[in-house]
Amino acid sequence: MVTQTQFTGRDVFARTFDADTESLAAIAERLEVRGKHPFFTDVIGHYMDALRLGREEAVLELGCGTGVIPRALAKRTDVKGRITAIDISAHLVEMGARLAAEEGVAGKIDFLVGDAHSIVEPQDRFDVVIMHTLLSHVVDPATVLREARRLLRPGGRVVVFDGDFESLTFATDAPDGGAQTDRLLGVSGQAHGRVMRLMPQLLGENGFRLEWSRAYVAADIGRADFWESLLATFRTLLPKSGVMSVDDADHYAAGLERASANGRFFASCNFYTMIARIAA
Ligand SMILES: C[S@@+](CC[C@H](N)C(=O)[O-])C[C@H]1O[C@@H](n2cnc3c(N)ncnc32)[C@H](O)[C@@H]1O
Repeated sequence: MVTQTQFTGRDVFARTFDADTESLAAIAERLEVRGKHPFFTDVIGHYMDALRLGREEAVLELGCGTGVIPRALAKRTDVKGRITAIDISAHLVEMGARLAAEEGVAGKIDFLVGDAHSIVEPQDRFDVVIMHTLLSHVVDPATVLREARRLLRPGGRVVVFDGDFESLTFATDAPDGGAQTDRLLGVSGQAHGRVMRLMPQLLGENGFRLEWSRAYVAADIGRADFWESLLATFRTLLPKSGVMSVDDADHYAAGLERASANGRFFASCNFYTMIARIAA
């Protein structure tokens, strides 16, 4: 059986099950700040609109982190059914439940700890399973897709949104323009940087029929904006992942902050959403 604890790489988002408090605080801060950015609120709105919910559909998010997506869903009038939110990190799940209570939506969301490769509870069936930047971090994306299929009712749909992190770049003034540091970012931040390129194939192989897709470029040109909260994690998370020393991470982050202050910043990554239905 595949479990997330088998992960041996450096991706800090894949190791939240045994991460220390400092790493979890940096991750939670990044998830919360990016979740409030118009790029993310728009993306969530686009796929939720495309689903055209309205009955009492039961929705599950696998890899919910601090609960950005379930909390956003709970505030939508078209989401009338129960929302379930599962993450492998008990710390992030607790934070999600607390934030949901603070925002007055706790009564609509069940938060649970679980591994998306093998969900023990709940035994309910869902109409929609959302994976919002989960599959780039799991040990085996195909196993997680099959698990989503098992958890869905006949005719149910999966929403996969993720970065094409092989395209992630933070330009620097190094002679290579940041190519080497981009490679280190890839190692420290994702287990599967190309998973969205494989998704049409993976969906088909694991019992889904692709119905809808949308492409995005998250690019900050001149000043850091969407990427600013990721940059803010570099001093903590790059040394924790083992790809840079504390001094090198500080030098890297300081250079990027200077570039932003001087209007010379460039960071970009492609993202995609795909909605697929259980194949008949
Ligand atoms: C990049 S975060 C995304 C969180 C949330 N979906 C969001 O966009 O704000 C990835 C999340 O996946 C969780 N995760 C990683 N592997 C997992 C697994 N096998 N099962 C459940 N959650 C997992 C991590 O704990 C982390 O919270």
